[in-house]
Amino acid sequence: MRKPVILITGANGEIGQGLIKAIAKRGDSNIVALDLDSLDSKVKPMVRDAVTANILDTNILERINAKYEISAIYHLAAILSTRAEFSPHIAHDVNVGGTLNLLKIAVEQASSQGKAVKFFFPSSIAVYGMGGREEKENSGAVTEDQYCRPETMYGCNKLYCEHLGRYYSKYYQRLSAVSSGGMIDFRAIRFPGLISSDTVPSGGTSDYGPEMIHAVAQGEPYACFVRPDTTMPFMTMPDAISAMESLMKADAQSLTRTVYHISSFSVSAQDFADKISNLYNKSEIFFKVSDKRQAIVDSWPAELNDVAARKDWGWKPGFDFDTAFDNYLVPEINKRYGE
Ligand code: SER
Repeated sequence: MRKPVILITGANGEIGQGLIKAIAKRGDSNIVALDLDSLDSKVKPMVRDAVTANILDTNILERINAKYEISAIYHLAAILSTRAEFSPHIAHDVNVGGTLNLLKIAVEQASSQGKAVKFFFPSSIAVYGMGGREEKENSGAVTEDQYCRPETMYGCNKLYCEHLGRYYSKYYQRLSAVSSGGMIDFRAIRFPGLISSDTVPSGGTSDYGPEMIHAVAQGEPYACFVRPDTTMPFMTMPDAISAMESLMKADAQSLTRTVYHISSFSVSAQDFADKISNLYNKSEIFFKVSDKRQAIVDSWPAELNDVAARKDWGWKPGFDFDTAFDNYLVPEINKRYGE
């Protein structure tokens, strides 16, 4: 008998580590963790099997597929927006080719188990393209179906993979004698910028938010790479993890979409700087704008209308801007850096 497990790719990333901790808290350790880097020693004891490999390595994927009965896949591995612009073809290979590899495994698992396999895909605010500052400032809160014309390779990859997920869920092999639609239960959330107390992101364009607080908490100066007025939605990592779990648990009948976006608070870079300066006396935050990275954030909405997620599966953030700092980031980050 194969052992039933949850497969998490990108397991050593920010979301991956947060998700493993949340699953472990429930007393479940039936996790196969896959990442290019070896799994952080703090989370390694929380999983059954930690595999260090590339998601493009189909031999390794086949071995995992043969060894385990996979009930759900959280496919988190990706090259983020800033890094993807430096290596667009590699990003496409990893972000799209990697997703196809995992969808193929999900289909094979579903057909051998005779039931649908749940597939979680973290999409991104990067799927939107606002066409510049003026449109961004005048658009109001954007819904999921507006402005889906990404301006980055990462955003294009995420939007296309959302479509692939919908295709595999509903239409896969639609012309074959026995159609395989319905084998994958694909669910996706377009995340805004995420802020974790435990980890610092790498290779993203919303990184200025989390970088600022982690730098100041360690007594380091921080040069913010976007203008002070730059506004986009953010949320805490615990809220992101609980959203993933709520969406994955939701009754399929109540879901009107395969892809939802969610948001907690929309704030400017100056709001971050003011908040952090109030909390840490010796903060040294200045602005040194990178025009190119600025243009990427200018293409992302300032605000999201997340009414669909609230209505369909009860999304509600646990933290607003103030409580995110007071009740989560500051206490946890101070513990981490020994303040
Ligand atoms: N945080 C991501 C990035 O900046 C967006 O999904 O690339």
